[in-house]
Amino acid sequence: MTNKVLVTGGTGYIGSHTVVELQNSGCEVVIADNLSNSKIEVLDGIEAITGIRPLFEKVDLSCAKECTEFFKKHTGINAVIHFAASKAVGESVVKPLLYYRNNLNSLMNILEAMKEFKIPNLVFSSSCTVYGQPDKLPVTESTPRKEAESPYGNTKTICEDIIRDTTKANPELKGIALRYFNPIGAHPSTKIGELPLGVPGNLIPFLTQTVAGMRAELSVFGNDYNTPDGSCIRDYINVVDLAKAHVVAISRLIGEKQKTNYEFFNIGTGKGVSVLELIESFERATGEKVPHKIVERRAGDIEQIYADTTFSNKELGWQSEKSLDETLLSAWNWQVALNK
Ligand code: WQD
Repeated sequence: MTNKVLVTGGTGYIGSHTVVELQNSGCEVVIADNLSNSKIEVLDGIEAITGIRPLFEKVDLSCAKECTEFFKKHTGINAVIHFAASKAVGESVVKPLLYYRNNLNSLMNILEAMKEFKIPNLVFSSSCTVYGQPDKLPVTESTPRKEAESPYGNTKTICEDIIRDTTKANPELKGIALRYFNPIGAHPSTKIGELPLGVPGNLIPFLTQTVAGMRAELSVFGNDYNTPDGSCIRDYINVVDLAKAHVVAISRLIGEKQKTNYEFFNIGTGKGVSVLELIESFERATGEKVPHKIVERRAGDIEQIYADTTFSNKELGWQSEKSLDETLLSAWNWQVALNK
């Protein structure tokens, strides 16, 4: 029996890469997306890679009526991967109600629909942001979650709790939350990649746009942190490796291999890399110089975080494969393709 997977937010950056890997593994995919932060042309990129154009429906999942209509129309779904959410950290500080309304209502509508239409399996897009600035590194899944640094991060913490409590009250529902560290890079085909709208907030798109001459200079937000070179440390995970983790999680649920009906896993490389080390790696991998300057710290940034991936390697049976150099080269190749 072919698995039919709903990917909400499937025209987004991580969503589109996950659709490709799901199709590569033989799943039928339907995408629900409101296109508020992505473009419908992403479907062309997916089709160019896999030869299969996913079903697509423009839907505002934060609207219960639209959500129910969608599930009435698209029958036979046996698993959901829920990416659809507002995700700009800075914007969430300015517009908290928009983030709580959109991110929480969308998830609750999805869970209600899964109960109504008897869809048992959910994989949720969570984030290492739930850990805040950890007291101890690397971070394991039993590291206590902390007060999130932003309303965006807090919606991830609350959504994890909503899934935990809903699967406890409804044992026929099973959920896995994947806590991403910093997703970067692009599909090697350069047919899909990160499409930031406006001025990028995240490091890699701003860096590649700077090297492409679209930005004057990359600002490195602080070199006075308590780290070896003073700049912040993160765990940068290749987006294709991350996408494959979703396929593994879905098959764990469909194959009923999960130990409890709510689980969560760190999805990172297990390696901490500083901003300055990343710039060096980019220059080595691409042969391009990155014009940059050190400026003040950015409010809300944590000093360092990187994953202990033992549990996801051993229990989930997934691990990252691509090197940082290869990943940064894929990001650059995508930027070059975009600017053609
Ligand atoms: C990485 C590092 C910056 C831009 C956030 C969210 C996380 C996820 C990924 C959504 C930091 C430094 C950045 C720049 C810089 N979001 N930086 N100059 O903040 O670690 O994580 O995005 O899914 O949940 O919290 O990612 O890429 O913004 O920053 O020096 O122009 O790069 O200080 O140390 P972050 P980021």
